[in-house]
Amino acid sequence: MANQLSGKSAFVTGGTGGIGRAICARFAAEGARVVAADLQPADDLPEGVDFVRYDVTDETGVKQVFDDLAERWDRLDILVNAAGIEIEKTIEETSLEEWNRIFAINVTGTFLTSKFALPLLRRGDGASIINFGSYDGYIADPGLAAYCATKGAVHALTRAMACDHGPEGIRVNAICPGYVNTPMLQSFFGDSGDIESLRQAVRDVHPMRTYGEPEDIANLVNWLASDEARYASGQLWIIDGGLSAQVQQMRL
Ligand SMILES: NC(=O)c1ccc[n+]([C@@H]2O[C@H](COP(=O)([O-])OP(=O)(O)OC[C@H]3O[C@@H](n4cnc5c(N)ncnc54)[C@H](O)[C@@H]3O)[C@@H](O)[C@H]2O)c1
Repeated sequence: MANQLSGKSAFVTGGTGGIGRAICARFAAEGARVVAADLQPADDLPEGVDFVRYDVTDETGVKQVFDDLAERWDRLDILVNAAGIEIEKTIEETSLEEWNRIFAINVTGTFLTSKFALPLLRRGDGASIINFGSYDGYIADPGLAAYCATKGAVHALTRAMACDHGPEGIRVNAICPGYVNTPMLQSFFGDSGDIESLRQAVRDVHPMRTYGEPEDIANLVNWLASDEARYASGQLWIIDGGLSAQVQQMRL
């Protein structure tokens, strides 16, 4: 269905990253006006998507961006908190500085952006906030301890925000992807060894025998942003090709 978001406005953090960019493109194709907010600019954003340089950890900067937006836009309908980083370490390998940094981006960033977006989100007659959790907030990938902890925190924050702001007509959900083909996944694969064999091994472990593409995630985000999802709130939406449905097969 086209134009599902006609007349709506959307703000997407991490908007030039792998998943964020696909979300911005889908929102624009559905008729929304879109701001992609990210530390990293991109030259070739889809038509209908404006870029704003944005650091989710900078309280003053976040407030300023929403103060400016409030002067130009009558309301905000959709907020997507997709900015995030991954640190591939156990807790012993993780420094306190790294621990604080990943929490600052993945958790505090979601808190700050949502907090300063709320006055603008309230101006409409119903809004949707979509946070980014992960299947790693339910079950753990080895060697991703701090990342898993941040995603568990985002899941709890999502439920809390849904309870607090549901009465104001604001829905809050979290998307929990498994493996998605983005720069974050490429960094997980690393740059040494036989990357194609590693990619195939990751595909093979999924019941659907593939990892996801950013557009797969954007499809679900688009639905949660749309009026069709008017009764969906406070939930964690796993989308992982069936990965978290299976136990490791015992070979006796
Ligand atoms: N790719 C996956 O397999 C996967 C799986 C589960 C969850 N996720 C989650 O999905 C979200 C998007 O991930 P992705 O795969 O697109 O990653 P990505 O690395 O492609 O994009 C992340 C974006 O966040 C931006 N960012 C980082 N720090 C920032 C900051 N301080 N302020 C503003 N922007 C900042 C980066 O510049 C980048 O553009 C993340 O929250 C990630 O944890 C991804």
